[in-house]
Amino acid sequence: MKKACAKSHAFDGASRALCIAVLAALSACGGEQSALHPRGVEAAFVAHLSWIMFVGAALVLLLVTGILLYSLYRRPDKRADISGAKLIFAGGVALPVVSLTLLLAYTLTGTKELRASEEPGEHDIEIVGHRWWWQVNYLGPEPEHRFTTANELHLPRGKRVRVKVTTADVIHSFWVPALAGKIDMIPGHENELVLEPTEVGVFRGQCAEYCGAQHTRMALYVVVHEPGEFDAWRERESAPAVMPVDPLARAGYEVFMGAACVYCHRIRGTPAQGTFGPDLTHIGSRSSIAAGTLAANRANLTAWIVHAQQIKPGSLMPSLNVLTGEELRALSAYLESLE
Ligand code: CUA
Repeated sequence: MKKACAKSHAFDGASRALCIAVLAALSACGGEQSALHPRGVEAAFVAHLSWIMFVGAALVLLLVTGILLYSLYRRPDKRADISGAKLIFAGGVALPVVSLTLLLAYTLTGTKELRASEEPGEHDIEIVGHRWWWQVNYLGPEPEHRFTTANELHLPRGKRVRVKVTTADVIHSFWVPALAGKIDMIPGHENELVLEPTEVGVFRGQCAEYCGAQHTRMALYVVVHEPGEFDAWRERESAPAVMPVDPLARAGYEVFMGAACVYCHRIRGTPAQGTFGPDLTHIGSRSSIAAGTLAANRANLTAWIVHAQQIKPGSLMPSLNVLTGEELRALSAYLESLE
């Protein structure tokens, strides 16, 4: 497609716009963030319903266009048989009543099944929206299965996971297109969603309600594991942070505990117990930082600490430019060591 676009002789504005639209549509199809490639039970239902409605709407459009052309070009005496009350009744009353009733029945039975209120389960999760990141609280029945993490959701394949969502500030919307439909996060209110992933993989989610300047940089990754691997992940994630062996990282621990970091961030097992910002207990094991904004690696951690306000203007993370180069290197090494 790209090649065809580039080689086109008449590559004027209109065909360029068409090429861009087609490429955008194609690139959105196969990705980790596509409602057209469902990897969860609810998303599969949404996709199925969308296709039914799309095909239905296309058939209605064809039918109406056909009737319009017929009435325009057919001789008046020939087209008399489809005119008047008969057409109005068939197309204006019978067709909508039948098709909309069928669609309503299908939607009601489907959503009833999907949204069934569940008993508290082993895999319950609460997600709290913040400007502009996600707080993820695991609410398992065992005390050791209750812990907080951020900006990354881990789920077991084939299990129904009840997700409660709310917000700490403004309205956000939790949306992982490959797994389920959107659900709003509303202040002072809890909404509920059931996620049941059918495939192992990494899927991207995105805040779907405009919530301020950094709305676009409010993403999260969902990692779906086989159930056994999920249990292993939960063991690691629920454990407190381990003191690093590496001297540079150990120096970074001292920097962290002596800096303003501790007022906003928690690292379980250390004196840092702030809760304004994301929990950093296992930040070194996450795939991204700053809510999907940057890939998680030492260089980006450093960049984020020094330039948070340039990377994500308006976020509550300040640009920490009081540290020396050596302190900064140590701090990034410490954070990276928190696996
Ligand atoms: Cu949060 Cu948009």
